Amino acid sequence: MIAIHNSPSGFHTRWENYCLQNNITYKTVNCYDSDIVSQLADCKALMWHHHQGNPCDLNIAKPILFALEHAGIKVFPDFHTNWHFDDKVGQKYLLEAINAPLVPTYVFVDKQKAIDWTKSTDFPKVFKLRGGAGSQNVKLAHTETEARKLIHQAFGRGFSNYDKWGSIRERYRKWRLGKTTTFGLLKGFIRLGISPPFAKVMGRESGYVYFQDFIPGNDHDIRVVVIGDKAFAIKRMVRKNDFRASGGGNIMYNKELFDISTLKLSFELSEKLKTQCVAFDFVFEEGTPLLVEISYGFSPAGYEACPGYWDKSLAWHNGRFNPYGWMVDEIVKTQIG
Ligand SMILES: Nc1ncnc2c1ncn2[C@@H]1O[C@H](COP(=O)(O)OP(=O)(O)OP(=O)(O)O)[C@@H](O)[C@H]1O
Ligand SMILES: [Mg+2]
Repeated sequence: MIAIHNSPSGFHTRWENYCLQNNITYKTVNCYDSDIVSQLADCKALMWHHHQGNPCDLNIAKPILFALEHAGIKVFPDFHTNWHFDDKVGQKYLLEAINAPLVPTYVFVDKQKAIDWTKSTDFPKVFKLRGGAGSQNVKLAHTETEARKLIHQAFGRGFSNYDKWGSIRERYRKWRLGKTTTFGLLKGFIRLGISPPFAKVMGRESGYVYFQDFIPGNDHDIRVVVIGDKAFAIKRMVRKNDFRASGGGNIMYNKELFDISTLKLSFELSEKLKTQCVAFDFVFEEGTPLLVEISYGFSPAGYEACPGYWDKSLAWHNGRFNPYGWMVDEIVKTQIG
């Protein structure tokens, strides 16, 4: 039997519906219960779409999933899929180690080394925190002076995982476009005084600094999601007067928007990474795809309009599909014992 974490968010209800429709035995469990391990006594697998913005998940999802996998229980996401989730620092080393075409990325844990580097490199560079989604913790360091300021802060008081002024700017942008309510905008102001729970749990980011070469001329990024031997893709347009696409909300889906060589590369990388599910974010330098980051999780709403998917032979399958069912199938297929 499969256990599914009991939550209305993310993939969970979609997994349950797929199990119901296909007579796959499952039970729901609450992974926040202290006795979760004994609740799983009659199960061979656990599926949990943990999220970087959920304070409970942040504290215990990876430890629980890794512990169970260590003990021989099948889990989604498994270690290869999960350990680098929401950790762009970890991803840098992983993607370099498998020779992925990562945008040149620089991580310093030594302040002086970081400062020396600013003297010998060119600008702008992209500055990121290791965690965060929707472009929240991504910005440009236009000059050496700006980069130095960021380095001083990184090795001083650090950064909150919640950028309150950036969030207000983004809420205002969405409000003007009619993409959020006035209450949504007001919430940004409330959050000036009260940090969101996830940011409290994560604490401040300090003691490291992360920069990436800025790849100019991209009015979009391409996200390819590979689940086993199937893949689908979306094209995310950058915000007006900005270089950042993710979280902007302007997504395109036509099959013709995606280069088959980017799909092929994604299948190859997914195989090297041994992941159950992985989203690759690409920007392009003179037509060549360069990886920006990877993630096992995504928001289902952004993918519902995908008109079809590719299989590993790069053949296109037209029509609606259920990627959440693919995840369940993978777990059912490989259940241990
Ligand atoms: N090195 C880069 N050069 C040019 N553009 C970049 C670069 N890195 C990121 N971007 C742009 O900024 C956006 C956000 O970057 P990134 O994907 O690293 O952040 P994120 O907040 O983790 O996003 P996600 O929601 O996809 O997890 C990307 O969608 C891309 O448009
Ligand atoms: Mg991204």
